[in-house]
Amino acid sequence: VSGKEARLARLVEPILPGLEQMRVAMIAQLSEDSGAVRDMTDHIARFHGKQLRGSLLMLVAKAHGVYTEEHPTVAAIVELIHLATLVHDDVLDGAEVRRRVACVNERWDNQIAVLLGDFLYARAFGLSTELSSRLCSRLLSDTTRRLCVGEIEQSTLRYDFELDQKHYERIAAAKTGTLYAAACELGVRYPGGDVESGTAMRAFGEEIGLAFQIIDDCLDVVGDQEVVGKSVGNDVDDGKVTLPVLRTYALADEPTRARIRDAYTLPEIEDRRGALREVCDLGPGTDYALARADELVGRALGRLRDLPASPAREALEGIGEFVLERRW
Ligand code: FPP
Ligand code: MG
Repeated sequence: VSGKEARLARLVEPILPGLEQMRVAMIAQLSEDSGAVRDMTDHIARFHGKQLRGSLLMLVAKAHGVYTEEHPTVAAIVELIHLATLVHDDVLDGAEVRRRVACVNERWDNQIAVLLGDFLYARAFGLSTELSSRLCSRLLSDTTRRLCVGEIEQSTLRYDFELDQKHYERIAAAKTGTLYAAACELGVRYPGGDVESGTAMRAFGEEIGLAFQIIDDCLDVVGDQEVVGKSVGNDVDDGKVTLPVLRTYALADEPTRARIRDAYTLPEIEDRRGALREVCDLGPGTDYALARADELVGRALGRLRDLPASPAREALEGIGEFVLERRW
C-alpha cells in the first residue's frame, strides 16, 4: 500500500461502514449465473478503483447531517455507472491497462467490452429501482446523457489544435465533472432535497471532477505508465488535444506548431507521445494546466466554508488536496 493509498484510507474513515455496504451492494450486482460473465466480473473486480465518487457522495451526506441508510446503495449505483463508462471508454481509447490490470477489451475483445459495459449499466439502473426515491435514477440518467454528449463532442473535436480552453473545459466537465457533480448533489439531496440544496455541492463536485480530468490529461502526456497504472499516450494516439498540449500549442511558434501537428498525425510515427515530447517543451503547458486544476480545487473547497466543522467536512477538504497530488 502506497503512502497515498493509506492517506485516502484515513480520509474515508468517517464513512467506513458505508463504504463496506457500498462494496457489498456492488458485488451483489456483479453476480450472474453465466460462467462467462462471472469470469469477466471477477476480472473487473480487480480494478479496485479509488471509489472517489461513492466516497464523496457519502461524505457530502455526512457533512450535511442528511446521511440515510440508502446512501451506500446510491453510492454503489454511481460507482457501477462509473465502471461501465470506463469499460466503454477503454474500447474507444484502445487502452490496454487500467489500474494495473488488463482492460476488458484487451483481456477479451471490443465486442465483449461493449456488452459488459451495457451489463454494468443495466445493473446500476436495476439497483436504482429498488430505492425509495426516484431522485437517484432521474439525476443519473440525465448525468449519463450528458456524459455521452461530452464523449461525442470530444470525438468530433479530435485534431483541433485551436480548441479554446473554455470549450475543452466544457467537454471535460461533461465527460468527467458531471458524475462527480451528480454524486455530490445526490449526497446532499437524496432522497428528496430541493434543487437549491444541491447547487453548491453540484458545483463542488464539478470543480473537483474537472480538476481530476485536467490532471488525468497531464498524466497522459507526461506521466509514467508504471506510476500511473494505466495506459498513457492514448490521447495523442487518438487525436485528443488536451489542456497541456493546447496551451503548449498556443504559446509555440509556427514551426513548432507544425511539428506538434505532425507528431499527432504523420502515419509512420509509432510512438506519438514520445514524438510529441521531443518536438516541444510540454513543461510550461503542463504547469499551466496544473495551476488551473489547483484553482478549481481551491474554488471547490471554498464552497465548504459554511459547513459546520466535522470529520466528514475535513475529509472532503482532504480529498480535494488528494486529487491535486494524484500522480497515478
Ligand atoms: C475517461 O476519460 C472517460 C470518461 C470519464 C467517460 C467515458 C464515457 C463513455 C465512454 C460513455 C459510456 C456510456 C455508458 C452508458 C456506459 P479518459 O479517457 O480521459 O480517462 P482515462 O485516462 O481514465 O481513460
Ligand atoms: Mg480513456
